[in-house]
Amino acid sequence: MTSALVHSLRIDLDSAAYSVTTLTELWGVNAEAALHRNERVPALRALAARRRDHGPEASATLATLFVLGLAVSRDDLATALPTLGVDGAIDLGLVELTGDEARPLLDLRPYSFVDAHGAGSWWIASDLGELALGRPLSEEHVLGVGGASVTLSGLMMQDPVGSVLDLGTGCGIQALHAARHATRVVATDISTRALELAALNAQLNSISNIEFRHGSLFEPVRGERFDQIVSNPPFVITPRAEGVPAYEYRDGGMEGDALVEAVLRGVAAHLNPGGVAQMLGNWEYRVGNDAFRRVGGWLDGTGLDAWVIERDTQDAAQYAETWIRDGGTQSGTPEFDRLYAAWLDDFEARRVTEVGFGYVTVRMPLAGSPTLRRLERLHGSLGANESGLGLHLSAVLRAHDWQSSRSDAEIAAAHLTVAQDVTEERHYWPGAEDPTAMMLRQGGGFGRSVRMDTALSGLVGASDGDLSVGAIVAAIAELMEVDFAELLAELMPRIRGLIDDGFLTAAD
Ligand SMILES: C[S@@+](CC[C@H](N)C(=O)[O-])C[C@H]1O[C@@H](n2cnc3c(N)ncnc32)[C@H](O)[C@@H]1O
Repeated sequence: MTSALVHSLRIDLDSAAYSVTTLTELWGVNAEAALHRNERVPALRALAARRRDHGPEASATLATLFVLGLAVSRDDLATALPTLGVDGAIDLGLVELTGDEARPLLDLRPYSFVDAHGAGSWWIASDLGELALGRPLSEEHVLGVGGASVTLSGLMMQDPVGSVLDLGTGCGIQALHAARHATRVVATDISTRALELAALNAQLNSISNIEFRHGSLFEPVRGERFDQIVSNPPFVITPRAEGVPAYEYRDGGMEGDALVEAVLRGVAAHLNPGGVAQMLGNWEYRVGNDAFRRVGGWLDGTGLDAWVIERDTQDAAQYAETWIRDGGTQSGTPEFDRLYAAWLDDFEARRVTEVGFGYVTVRMPLAGSPTLRRLERLHGSLGANESGLGLHLSAVLRAHDWQSSRSDAEIAAAHLTVAQDVTEERHYWPGAEDPTAMMLRQGGGFGRSVRMDTALSGLVGASDGDLSVGAIVAAIAELMEVDFAELLAELMPRIRGLIDDGFLTAAD
């Protein structure tokens, strides 16, 4: 019965051309930007103007209901969903009727993306946000596709694998993405409502290789191992105090950053050899204890390769404000001030000064001990690059394996080429013949910059795959009148670093 209804809904959404492009056409880019700021007035005005010119349109009715969260007339709904019908929409839990008005009970919006398989688009159902509800979210709220969801799906490695675990699936967005490159996906959540919505989303988008399981953390997959694990866990640090809401979608119910620690420590027992886990997280900076020392401590003894990238930090006060507002409590109200004090008390109790946000990639070595332990701070915007990082991460992990499994002599014998997205930048004092600074810049990936000296610049400039590293360094040593072996030894860590970061690639 339900699957027939979902099928009918799919037919109607399709024939209404209910897509990201259609919505942008309906209300324009400025109204779209306003919606991202949680303001719907510009979109409403645009829709009203369209209705005057074109009469009722199915896509506009669906957008009014399911994106703007406003009621529409029963007649308009019947026209917009001719196959499902108004009764079908009620049975599916999409709307409720009050007299002649249909009110939305769910958020249902198009979502589009580009990944290694090309462009795609889905419809994603989740709970109505605070704009539609007109009040703070409930603790059981099931989140739609947010900024963090997009960050993780962009980071997700997409090499074909047998099995993927999506821990804390929410509306199922990571599981849907994983289903494109995995034979089977297991999606778990502590919230039964989230699992129902995620299953609806899978069905609505004709994705059938996801199994949904209920339970906390790794409980639903006890004794099982996967080729890949992804998790956007409920990592938000929340005071465990009376009267502070514990939103299921963002708060795992533990103290401080203990939930991130639990997930990170837990993945090792659930990864196959060669398997990779990717997750987002927050970590606390405590007086006298740098967050990276703590995160490094969580990784110790797991036997995992690990790469931690911190993208941002917020001081304790900013962090509290961000997450109190995210729950829909307005600043300047007594409730806001009460929650703010609770957050600051909680941070003070652990002497937390700042909170870091970032991503962690860990991998179970195919054999032997870990070869990668990298914790770095890459703050600032990555622009459009962030959405394609999964491909970059796969490539640089492969490059790391190549370089770390080779001796210095083997690297010297290798033929390297400069990656396509790399450019060189030189700076001169006015009138000077020699540059005062030489930089290598990476266009893709993390958009890294590397400062070079003359010898490294010479090596990179000559790395077109023709000559071996050793032959190039020998020629540079001769030109610079320095000892070849010493120069090679000096350059070797830099060469390994450029391979690790995707500036130089092995031609073989
Ligand atoms: C931040 S949301 C992520 C949702 C989705 N994966 C995404 O990327 O948008 C975190 C999810 O974890 C779930 N969750 C909370 N506590 C959990 C626990 N102890 N075990 C498993 N899932 C949990 C929440 O219900 C929520 O759906």
